[in-house]
Amino acid sequence: MSSTTAKRRKIIITQALPYANASLHLGHILEAVQADIWSRFQNNSGNECLFFCADDTHGTPVMLKAKEMGITPEKLIKDIQKDHEETYKLYDINFANYHSTHSEENKKYSELIYSRVKDNGFITRNTINQLFDETESMFLSDRFIKGTCPKCGAEDQYGDNCSVCGATYDVSEIKDPISVISNTKPINKESEHLFFNLPKKITALKEFLLNGDLQKPITNKLNEWLNDDLQQWDISRDAPYFGFEIPGEDKKYFYVWLDAPIGYIASIANWASKNNLDMSELWSEKSNYEIYHFIGKDIAYFHGLFWPALLSAADFKLPNGIYVHGFLTINGEKMSKSKGTGIMAKEFAEICDPETLRYYFAAKLNDKVEDIDLNFEDYVQRINSDLVGKYLNIASRCSSFIAKNDNKLSEAYDQNLIQQISSKHDEILKHFETRNFSKAVRLIMDLADITNKYINDNTPWKKDKDEAAYIATTALNAFNILTIYLSPIIPKITDEAFKFLNQTNQSFDDIEKRLENNINKYKPLLKRLDPIIIPEEKNMTEENNYINIDQFAEIDLRVAKIINASHVEGADKLLQLKLDVGDLGERNVFAGIKASYNPDELINKMVILVSNLAPRQMKFGLSEGMVLASSDDKGIYLISPDSGAVPGLRVK
Ligand code: MSP
Ligand code: ZN
Repeated sequence: MSSTTAKRRKIIITQALPYANASLHLGHILEAVQADIWSRFQNNSGNECLFFCADDTHGTPVMLKAKEMGITPEKLIKDIQKDHEETYKLYDINFANYHSTHSEENKKYSELIYSRVKDNGFITRNTINQLFDETESMFLSDRFIKGTCPKCGAEDQYGDNCSVCGATYDVSEIKDPISVISNTKPINKESEHLFFNLPKKITALKEFLLNGDLQKPITNKLNEWLNDDLQQWDISRDAPYFGFEIPGEDKKYFYVWLDAPIGYIASIANWASKNNLDMSELWSEKSNYEIYHFIGKDIAYFHGLFWPALLSAADFKLPNGIYVHGFLTINGEKMSKSKGTGIMAKEFAEICDPETLRYYFAAKLNDKVEDIDLNFEDYVQRINSDLVGKYLNIASRCSSFIAKNDNKLSEAYDQNLIQQISSKHDEILKHFETRNFSKAVRLIMDLADITNKYINDNTPWKKDKDEAAYIATTALNAFNILTIYLSPIIPKITDEAFKFLNQTNQSFDDIEKRLENNINKYKPLLKRLDPIIIPEEKNMTEENNYINIDQFAEIDLRVAKIINASHVEGADKLLQLKLDVGDLGERNVFAGIKASYNPDELINKMVILVSNLAPRQMKFGLSEGMVLASSDDKGIYLISPDSGAVPGLRVK
């Protein structure tokens, strides 16, 4: 058989490192399951495959999230890493090592790669003009800027593209930019940045695209980008930044996407040192490991261009291939928290056995970059019909005939059926190898159908004990082979099935091995799934989101009367209000209500003021509090007390 004689390959695989600012969702699990099945398949068929991952910890989102939570970034990434590892464990993702980009190893390799790249002449300097938030003392990247689209004039658009007209533009072109962090107007400020000379690696990249194991549409897209106008890559960020300082520079940090993929190397290095292994040659041209990255389609640019260029410029080995998958949609829609389809992986594991999701993903995964839909009805139907109704049904139907035979299998069995099942070995292996798991699953289920038909046709329930044992032994040998085939996909269920069959360490090389002697009593290995109902999105009533009465009492809400209202020169959303707050005196407040109110109609209106909100210096003057209003896409609605309330009354 090919796999037993083939040379034992040494393979390292990675999946994209999830960001350490949020829990994992089912899209992350799709990627992990794809890589894990492939890795288990390799190990089950005579190769060595090690699967590495880490948390991606650096950059602005982590920094801001920690700030919002009032904790340090170090604390945040520690908590999130624990949460991520627990979640992957629930789905039985078998990492050789799980590490962090905020680690000694990653610092070491980031500095090493940078210094080599620099020595090899790939680093240039350029002064760039960037928007700077003065209240927060930080430079703002595109996603922290909002403003008016320079092309169509739509308001409230992100710094790099317009969701209304679809235009993309440079952040310097956007009109009336506002920092989304402080809601203030940023200024322009110059800063020197370090650039990696990507165009200088064009030849190496072309060669990589030619020789690497990449999917056709990805190669085409990357080639398109290559032949387009390839730019130098800005690899530095100014303080404050959560990341590694760039050696030899003053308060400059590596951009998160520089040290993130180096996290792959760091995770391997961490594992190697824990296992007393030398990894100096692993990433050199002499390496005897093949290296593959499993990623989603959104990060193909980074992995297909920046990463190989960086490795090549630092004289490291390039990956042998990049395997790109599409995005997970749920019931046909993009995952979204507000629609209740942004289901967190931990929550889902409480609703369904994670093994069943592994199976469903396998039944849908192929080597294409297509999106994959998780449809709950289809899912339940699929699991009940395939796993319960076809595969496990064989064991539950046959076990009683063996039980009646003192748990003893018969010595003879029907070679014909077994031959049919085992002869698909090479084909199934090929589907796993090429990541066409859906084809493997279809074939395996066809074989389960054939086995069930064999049982139906031979009617063991009508036969005497010996004959029934012969039929059941045949079917259980088929079940054993199907279990081997399915083992990369549903490792927990198949482990239990092997225990039932009295088998240990079954691998793809054991296809020709037949069951002998006794088996154990069959216990159901999977319950039929009920229709899936995802609980309503957790909201403020969730236990750990309650505030207590003291926290509420800290907010000083007062009835106030608008005694003057006027337009603000140069502001398109604000009105300036003068408020009478009774014993608290008068207050000046800038309120973003211009879209729905004329100053004239506001005079003498009663409103509610958050009186102890820290005063804020704005371009137009000091704002001393905030008036309460609700809003939707039709307008803004100020909140007023019933008649009788007088200025200064406390709201409680
Ligand atoms: N931190 C970067 C990766 C750095 S790799 C050196 C990142 N993190 S992520 O958490 O946003 O995404 C991690 C992986 O999950 C990516 O491969 C991404 O494509 C994948 N997915 C994110 N959402 C997804 C779906 N809805 N469906 C499938 N995969 C998805 O990007
Ligand atoms: Zn526009």
